[in-house]
Amino acid sequence: MTKSKQRHYKIAVIPGDGTGPEVVAEALKALDASSKKNGYQLNLTHFDFGGERYLKTGKVLTDKEVSDLKRFDAILLGAVGHPEVKPGILEKGLLLKIRFDLEQYINLRPVKLYPGVWTPLKDKGPNEIDFVVVRENNEGLYVGEGKFINKGKKDEVALQVSRNTRKGVERCIRYAFELTRRRNKRKKLTLCGKTNVLTYAHDLWWRVFNEVAKEYKDIKTDYAHVDATCMWMVKNPEWFDVIVTDNMFGDIITDLGAMIQGGMGIAAGGNLNPEGVSMFEPIGGSAPKYTGLNVINPLAAICAGGMMMDHLGETKVAAEIENAVMDVTKNKLKSLSAGKMGYGTREVGDLVAERIR
Ligand code: IPM
Ligand code: MN
Repeated sequence: MTKSKQRHYKIAVIPGDGTGPEVVAEALKALDASSKKNGYQLNLTHFDFGGERYLKTGKVLTDKEVSDLKRFDAILLGAVGHPEVKPGILEKGLLLKIRFDLEQYINLRPVKLYPGVWTPLKDKGPNEIDFVVVRENNEGLYVGEGKFINKGKKDEVALQVSRNTRKGVERCIRYAFELTRRRNKRKKLTLCGKTNVLTYAHDLWWRVFNEVAKEYKDIKTDYAHVDATCMWMVKNPEWFDVIVTDNMFGDIITDLGAMIQGGMGIAAGGNLNPEGVSMFEPIGGSAPKYTGLNVINPLAAICAGGMMMDHLGETKVAAEIENAVMDVTKNKLKSLSAGKMGYGTREVGDLVAERIR
């Protein structure tokens, strides 16, 4: 990529709502330390999209605004969700709109237990908890297709369609195979579905998975129903290397994943369009009750920044950020939970930045 040779990246920053701005500030602190040390440049443009702007102007995110995001190399997002805005408006109008309109068809969510981090899984440590979930990010139940029949009546029916296209399923599965090969760990890709019940949607997933697998003889393949996947994630997380799954199941199992890796304070993800503009975010929400108190954990946002640099081709920079975070979890933080870290939000950001320098 010529962009990475120039090492000059245009980044759209969307701090968003609640604790979003606080954690994004710490991610930018870490990135600033990293760019000075490693000699690359980040050209940041801040956007005020989110609940506050919506309450003031009635605007969530226009087509033009999404389209303008296409001129950036990547997007860093804090959080969306505002206690005074009806649920669904910002989620659909902002977060899902960006994911869909920019065709960020992969949601990449590493589940990795860092050293020194408490996990609720007894007898499991960093060696056992280290896998990646590849969540399809543009289709399935998230397409918003459906209808009410006899709305409000006694015999009401509500339909919600899961849309799975050959193209969408195949590009997601291909990405997962490529990632499993690149990761080069256990070289095992697990398809997570529900073929015994979703006999249309996951029949397609199953067929495409087996078809694409023929091109990846070096990768072991496995299948688990989503309920069994939850069970194994708790009982034998070491069985997983890469999991590929649909949008809804991916949403659910990555919250479970976040818990076994130490909580929402550390879980980061990327919404990837491998051919376009990708967006990186801490996967926890806006946490209104912790807003402005300097207690929220910024590590997930810092890790999202690291994932962003990796995506931009800055592998060494990304590893350095991750190592700094691991050093802080191992040697400094008492807990990863908001208010229990033994440090404030800004101080945790300082600890990471110091280690990067
Ligand atoms: C996530 C979130 C979103 C999702 C919500 C906020 C729409 O839970 O990023 O996992 O369901 O994808
Ligand atoms: Mn979720």
